[in-house]
Amino acid sequence: MPNTNKPLRHFLQFSDLSRDELDYLFERTRWIKQQFKSYQKYWPLVDRTLVMIFEKASTRTRLSFEAGMHQLGGSAIYLNTRDSQLGRGEPVEDAAQVISRMSDIVMIRTFEQAIIERFAANSRVPVINGLTNEYHPCQILADIFTFVEHRGPIQGKTVAWIGDSNNMCNTWLQAAKLLDFKVRVSTPPGYEIEAALAGEAGAHFQTFADPMEAARGADLVTTDVWTSMGFEAENEERMRDFADWQVDADMMKVAAPNAVFMHCLPAHRGEEVSAEVIDGPQSVVWDEAENRLHVQKALMEFLLLGRI
Ligand code: CP
Ligand code: NVA
Repeated sequence: MPNTNKPLRHFLQFSDLSRDELDYLFERTRWIKQQFKSYQKYWPLVDRTLVMIFEKASTRTRLSFEAGMHQLGGSAIYLNTRDSQLGRGEPVEDAAQVISRMSDIVMIRTFEQAIIERFAANSRVPVINGLTNEYHPCQILADIFTFVEHRGPIQGKTVAWIGDSNNMCNTWLQAAKLLDFKVRVSTPPGYEIEAALAGEAGAHFQTFADPMEAARGADLVTTDVWTSMGFEAENEERMRDFADWQVDADMMKVAAPNAVFMHCLPAHRGEEVSAEVIDGPQSVVWDEAENRLHVQKALMEFLLLGRI
């Protein structure tokens, strides 16, 4: 049952959490991960139900939310556009009213951010963004947690973003502002950052025409697919436009000597990243993927139970 004593909180974009709440969440993540690794049962969400709505494909997001909810003692239900009324034009507002009366928390992966905002505005329970065209906040929670595990506090550090100004890029830029680190961004001409989504360049991010310049001295080098879900019609054009925006061994050489490489996955070796880099010693992509599980368990605990 929804906890009516607690103000309703959503996680629709990274900036929905304060810096203090993020610090708390990472602390909980460490503890929850430790419990999981030592086979300790931790069931704070017994009888709670997560509904997961997918309008786009997923491996990691579905698995980490579904497994995570079970591991917290609750249950998870998967809905997709194909075999629910969502794909047949039922208004988002109506779906939100109904789904949120039968569940305790909802995760949505969809197209425009406006869809998830409309859903949240009509929901009785917390709503989590599992990726929209504009943002992918759960992934950045995992990425930052992974960086901290490998290299310590991210405050004051430099992240290089190489490639598309997509949902991942926008979310990195929000996170940089909140957590006080810098992002050096290089996107091909025509794929520049939209200030309305990511803020204006300044103290927390700078843009570079040359991807090698963006990578110079970075503590973390990261990229993503050239064509995100929903943009498949542009694929051929993007293959040409992004050809010079590959993270390869030469690029990792200009980064800081102990730089790590991250990718939210799925990756295309030979496109946005060379096999040598993603399968090489600086890559932390498997820890990054695993940490989706742990950060999202902490997130669900926080949204449902508050600070405990
Ligand atoms: N990184 C990520 O969100 O992966 P999926 O698309 O497999 O969920
Ligand atoms: N930017 C990618 C991320 C996939 C996890 C996409 O939106 O398809």
